[in-house]
Amino acid sequence: MKILGIETSCDDTGVAIYDTDNGLLAHGVADQLATHAEYGGVVPELAARDHIRKLSPLVQCVLDQARLTVSDMDGVAYTRGPGLAGALLVGAGYGRSLAWALDIPSVGVHHMEGHLLAPMLEENPPAFPFLALLVSGGHTLLADVQGLGRYRILGESLDDAAGEAFDKTAKLLGLGYPGGPVLAQAAEQGNPQRFRFPRPMCDRPGLDFSFSGLKTFALTTIQNSDDSAQTVADIAWAFQDAVADVMVIKCRRALQQTGHQRLVVAGGVSANSELRKRLAGLAADMRAEVFYPRLAFCTDNGAMIAYAGAMRLLAGERQGEGFDIKPRWPISDIS
Ligand code: KG4
Ligand code: ZN
Repeated sequence: MKILGIETSCDDTGVAIYDTDNGLLAHGVADQLATHAEYGGVVPELAARDHIRKLSPLVQCVLDQARLTVSDMDGVAYTRGPGLAGALLVGAGYGRSLAWALDIPSVGVHHMEGHLLAPMLEENPPAFPFLALLVSGGHTLLADVQGLGRYRILGESLDDAAGEAFDKTAKLLGLGYPGGPVLAQAAEQGNPQRFRFPRPMCDRPGLDFSFSGLKTFALTTIQNSDDSAQTVADIAWAFQDAVADVMVIKCRRALQQTGHQRLVVAGGVSANSELRKRLAGLAADMRAEVFYPRLAFCTDNGAMIAYAGAMRLLAGERQGEGFDIKPRWPISDIS
């Protein structure tokens, strides 16, 4: 069964074809960095218009890559939510119409389930059950994953998501957009001895996160320091150090609590190499194994939606008549 996957929840247009017999056949992402850079963040209306412009040519390009035509598809999967309403409508409208025209089934996928299952596209995929740390621009959560759709949330961010904290802190440091990768790059030159940020919510039991205080701490530190490139790097290092440390502390607790020996880390922030380095240390310490998507599939992409959609279609799920999107959709509400 060949599934066309469409991702348009935020600022990346992603398309892929996943074949349940032969794996991933082709994929492509068109980013919108140039569109949003001058605003220092994603402008929802511009994101939706950009998806409209790019989606159809990208679908054609991915079909060409796979040497297939649209009539070779057996199903369509699109991101139903959560995300920006206008952006989601583009993918949902396109996906549903295409499926209707081809008379094939379609399914609306939860964006975070896509991230969660992305490591399944790699050569050594994790077996269920496992602990998942999902860290993206919109979400930070730890989940006990028993199988497809069987997710128990163990903890989540009470305020900013980890990626959001990276983006906001990078903006405060004048590093531009998107913040995560540029802040990580600046941190490489940072002096680890100069600043120390707090580790929010680590001094009490529990698996929830809070990152908005780190952004405020960064602001105060910036106001009390010079604005040299070295100081920017030192603050970037201290911020990243605190985020990575908090994640390691919470993952350690969650592994102990659940007894899992497999940890899946996914979402945009899972591309962070400092975080990966420290989680490798944790895994060695706890005799656990860590699984990631390849770097290109940490951030938003069509492959994860095609895969998650394929699993749901195989399980017999179908989207009903008409279509709806779910800009707000807690992962605990999916089954
Ligand atoms: O998963 P994603 O593409 O979109 C959402 O679903 O939100 O994640 C995007 C987030 C952004 O906040 C971005 O700054 C962050 O992931 N990110 C990173 C890195 N690469 C992307 N954060 C830290 N280090 C990175 N290398
Ligand atoms: Zn995402």
